[in-house]
Amino acid sequence: MQTDAAILEVHNVTRQFGGLTAVNKVSLSLVPGEIRALIGPNGAGKTSLFNLISGVLPCSSGQIRFKGEDITHLPSYRRFKLGMGRSFQIVNLFADLTVEENVRIAVQAALKRTTHPFEWIDHKAVLQRMQDVLAQFNWIKDAQAKAGSLNYAEQKKLETLMALTSNPDLLLLDEPTAGIDEEDIALMIEMIVSSSENRTILLTDHDIRFVMKIADRITVLDQGAIIAEGTPEEIAANPLVDEVYFGGSR
Ligand SMILES: Nc1ncnc2c1ncn2[C@@H]1O[C@H](COP(=O)(O)OP(=O)(O)O)[C@@H](O)[C@H]1O
Ligand SMILES: [Mg+2]
Repeated sequence: MQTDAAILEVHNVTRQFGGLTAVNKVSLSLVPGEIRALIGPNGAGKTSLFNLISGVLPCSSGQIRFKGEDITHLPSYRRFKLGMGRSFQIVNLFADLTVEENVRIAVQAALKRTTHPFEWIDHKAVLQRMQDVLAQFNWIKDAQAKAGSLNYAEQKKLETLMALTSNPDLLLLDEPTAGIDEEDIALMIEMIVSSSENRTILLTDHDIRFVMKIADRITVLDQGAIIAEGTPEEIAANPLVDEVYFGGSR
């Protein structure tokens, strides 16, 4: 992989919580347009690494570069402005707003990446884009429903849709399919893949079949450290991954 073409470069990053090393000297490099899955057992450090990349938590040591710029010490909002977006493992929506209003917020977030705070906003264009996004997915049955009244799977799908609509160049998705069924996973794949053309995605998930289907490359984390990286085929054939991730039970 060519490092100079990378959109995201994580270099030797460590994060300690007291005596616990949650992320241990992790280095990884993502090329523009790839879908990378980060897998590993519970507590491996996946969410912590997302928090370091998105600036929710500071690194204890190491360096993170995004689009060639050193962002190690930049606050989250600056990373957002540079073109980074994320979803959370726990659903994070405006529960008291409608589905439509939530989508509109994501459309406006996409605009905010590229415009000055006092720049004139074309509200008609915002509404049009919102309608287009809503029309694209027929799982949205009632755009006027309050987001908080949706079932869990619909909330997860709406959250992912918002993350995609906010149009980041690099999107971090933390467990997008957690707690949702096969049919909704298929919809999730459709949403992510159909929007992935000009986007780089780093995602974590427990559903290994989903990961195998969607990822171009897979990075395996165990106890904070990377133990393997490769194509889905290479990872599936890796005995170390089998041992750590599946307990050798396959
Ligand atoms: N804010 C925190 N304070 C202390 N320990 C934490 C914190 N966040 C995560 N950890 C610990 O770091 C390790 C990695 O957790 P996490 O990144 O959530 O793993 P994963 O997402 O792979 O399940 C776990 O042992 C977890 O208990
Ligand atoms: Mg996690």
